[in-house]
Formats: sequence, structure tokens, C-alpha cells
Amino acid sequence: MAFDMVGVVGLGTMGAGIAEVFARAGLRVIGVEADAEALARGRGHLERSTGRAVDKGKLTGGERDEILGRIMLTTSREDLREVDLVVEAIPEILEYKISLFRDLDRICKPETVLATNTSSLPVTAVAAATGRPGQVVGMHFFNPAPVMKLVEVVGTVVTAEGMVQEISGLARRLGKTPVAVGDRAGFVVNRLLLPYLNHAAWLLEQGVARRDDIDAAMTLGVGLPMGPFTLLDLIGLDTAYEVMGTLFDETRDRRHAPAPPLRELVTAGLLGRKSGRGFHDGPATPAEPEKSKITTVRVLGEGGADLADRLAAAGFQLSDDADVVLQLGDRPVIEHAVRLERPETMVGVHLVGSRVAELAATVLTSPEAANAARDLTKAIGLTPVECRDRAGFVVDALLYPYLNDAVRMYAAGYASADDIDAAMRLGCGYPAGPFEMLETIGPARVRDGLRALYAEYREPAYAPAPLLDQLVTAGLRAFPRP
Ligand code: 3HC
Repeated sequence: MAFDMVGVVGLGTMGAGIAEVFARAGLRVIGVEADAEALARGRGHLERSTGRAVDKGKLTGGERDEILGRIMLTTSREDLREVDLVVEAIPEILEYKISLFRDLDRICKPETVLATNTSSLPVTAVAAATGRPGQVVGMHFFNPAPVMKLVEVVGTVVTAEGMVQEISGLARRLGKTPVAVGDRAGFVVNRLLLPYLNHAAWLLEQGVARRDDIDAAMTLGVGLPMGPFTLLDLIGLDTAYEVMGTLFDETRDRRHAPAPPLRELVTAGLLGRKSGRGFHDGPATPAEPEKSKITTVRVLGEGGADLADRLAAAGFQLSDDADVVLQLGDRPVIEHAVRLERPETMVGVHLVGSRVAELAATVLTSPEAANAARDLTKAIGLTPVECRDRAGFVVDALLYPYLNDAVRMYAAGYASADDIDAAMRLGCGYPAGPFEMLETIGPARVRDGLRALYAEYREPAYAPAPLLDQLVTAGLRAFPRP
């Protein structure tokens, strides 16, 4: 099918971004909004996004005018009669979507393909509401749509043969990479991403670490483009809340219950970037305490010699009777601390990559020692991430269950390791997909980290996936890829 003219219904952040993507690829677009006010907001999104590209020298003024000239804006769905494809990007409420698809089915010519950009609602339910279920698919873009390269193309049991391939071809024409997936809540990306973001909100709720420290750990430590709270604010907390709710309904996995801070912010109307405030721009993180006056340090545990050398080179005095003792390696840190004469001096240290030091204070750590540990790590050029003495600290606690979920998804036959990796790299800008990360970190280390998480929380989903266990037992370092 030649897709020359497409309709986009709903011109919020995602819909406007999708309309821009089509227009940039030379297609004519009819953008539909409910009323004049919403239409004006949609026009604003389009003008700002393309205006930014002109400011950055990525588009000329003339190219921008051409792109915007290909987009016709209207408040009447009836204008979609002749389009070849409609992409729906209205709020995530199934009844609204079903009612819209019934309307589109009535209005559009019989050949028109109807696509939903739903984040997690069942595409099958939307398809079944129309008289053309074979021509209904999911076409799931990622925020910001003009930038992120992935489109998940969702086929259902009733999708016509060849339809997913046609839409995948169209996605390629748009400069995107399609990944074909089945109709399960969250598809690939949201099923892996959102539980991780929700987990970060739980860590905040439980006081394991502060918002900015968690964000810094995942960006500077793991190399993700955004920390979980910055990303939640970008996605929109209402969307995140809805996706978590849908995931929970399907899985009944406790981890998928939306974390309380999400509900609280959504109820308060603080939805993230689109409403100007969410996790960020909220109450300021408390000011940092006074600089520590401690100058003596002792370093214990695996890899301690190197850290001690760096601290000595930065002017700190190494001493067996130091006022702060940094313990690398095994945790619980408290088990090491209670063996000291002055257990209040001990802080656990976990180095993440070359830039981040997670610092775990125990129930006995004194505020002076905690402050000193922070200053010491800063003095040698590391970003401190302060957290409590919990399994996985921050990074491993967030990363390992995500990797485990990816292994389970692969083991269930839902997607290949290559597709899962590509989806996370292209949909979320991750430097590597979960299987690539697993192979870099080492499957045994991830398996052992999961065992530690499971032992502490008794959370069934933290138990290593059987396939991961088997991989380690077999002495393999990588998952089989056909
Ligand atoms: N609209 C259009 N273009 C945008 C944009 C926007 N909202 N935000 C950024 N850009 C463009 C910039 O113009 C720039 O383009 P250029 O390289 O051609 O000059 C490019 O993106 C990079 O932007 P910046 O240099 O300003 O900013 P960053 O380097 O910080 O990158 C980012 C911004 C691309 C958003 C990056 O931080 C990123 O990849 N973040 C992760 C986003 C993510 O995970 N998205 C998926 C969320 S899940 C989802 O959407 C599914 C849903 O169902 C919930």
C-alpha cells in the first residue's frame, strides 16, 4: 500500500511529534484535535519543535515551512475520509480509544489502516471494536518522537497477513527502526522500562537514596541518557501511572503496583514536564551539610589498595585508627562495621564505572563519617551517591531486576535477544541493550546480585530467571542468538 496521506488523532506531545515525523518524511498529514483550544496547543508543539531544529541549524526556515505546510490541522474527524493510515495518540483510556476507532471505521475509506500509539492497552480490544480488525495495528513511538528511532509494530491474532510488514516498511521510510511484537501489556520497551522506573520511585519512597543521587547513579554510573526521575517527568507521570496500572492488571506482580509517589504527584496534577512540575522542580533537595573536617581514612576490602592510593595522592592521611573507614566489596556493610572498635566510622563503598561511588551508611554510621565519605570521594573526582545499606545499593538494585525481566521475556519467546537489545537502545537511548549489558557485566555477577536481592527482599521476581541460572551453570557468557 502506498501511504501518502495519514491522519494523526490527538496532538499532545506524542501526537504532534508523530505528525512531525510523517511530515518530515514527505507525507501529507491531517492532524485532528477535539476543539480549537487543543488544536492551538498542538500547533504550538509543532512550531516549537521545528523552530528548535531551525535554531540548531538542522532545518532551514524554508524546510520548516514545507514540513508545517504538509500538516493540515482540523477539529473534524470527518476530514480523515481519504487518508491511507490513521495513528491515534489520544489519552490512555480504553473506552475513548474504542469509541474513536468505531468512528474512524465508519468515516475512513475501506482500505485505510488504523493504528494506535497506545503505550500498553490491548490493541486486540481496539481492533475488535471495528469492522476491519485485520487492518488494525499498534504503531508505538517513543518520546520525543522526532528523535527516538524505534517504532514497535504490534500485530494481533486478527491482524491480516503482511500488515505488520507493511507498517514496518512505512516505519523504515520514516527513518525509524521497526521491531515487530505481539499484543502483550507494555510490549517490549514499556514492559522492561516502566517497572525499573517504578522501582526507582519505590527506592525514593523507602528512603534508600535521594532523587538526584538516583538520577546521577543511572546517568553517570550506567551511562543512561536520563535518570529515572528525569525520564518519568518526560514521559508524563499520568502516562507512567496508567502503564503501571495496566501492567499490574495483567501480571498481578507486586512490583508493578504504581509506587505511592507516582499516585500522589498525579493526583496533585503534577504530571512532569508537560505541566511544568513533577519529580523535578518539586521541593528542593535538602542543602548539603557542612564540609567534613576529617582527614584520616582507612580503606578495607577488595580493590581497597587502589582507592587508598588515590586518596593518599589527594592528600588524605591513611591510618589504622582513621575517623572514617571505607569498606569495599561484600555487604551487608553492617556485618563489617560491627567488627570494628568504632563501628560508627564505617561507610560501605561500591564503585560504579569510573565516575560514581555509591556510599552506604549503616544504622550505626555517624553523620561525620557519612559527610567525610562524601567529601573524600568528591576530592578524587567521583560523584558520590549516598544510599542505605541495602542489597544492590542503588545501581544493581535497579539494573539487575531489569536484566532479569529481559531474560524472562526472551525465555517466554516474546522477542529475540537482538530485538530486545535494539528496542532498548533505540527506544530509550540506552548505550547497550539488556543482553549486551548482561554480557559485559558477566552473567554470574548478575545472577549472584539477584540472589542477594532475593535473599534480602524475598521478592519472587528477584529470583534469577532459570535461564540465567542455566547459562551461568553451563559456563556461558552470552545468550544464544540465531
Ligand atoms: N522534540 C524534538 N526534538 C528534540 C526534543 C523534543 N522534545 N528533545 C530533544 N530533541 C532533539 C534536539 O533538538 C537534538 O537534536 P539534534 O541532535 O538534531 O540537534 C537531540 O534531540 C538531542 O537533544 P539535546 O542535545 O537537547 O538533549 P540530549 O542530548 O539530552 O538528548 C534526549 C535528549 C534525546 C531526549 C535524550 O536525553 C534521550 O534519549 N533520553 C531518553 C528518552 C527516552 O527514554 N524516551 C523513551 C521514553 S518511553 C516512551 O516514550 C514510551 C511511552 O509509551 C511511555
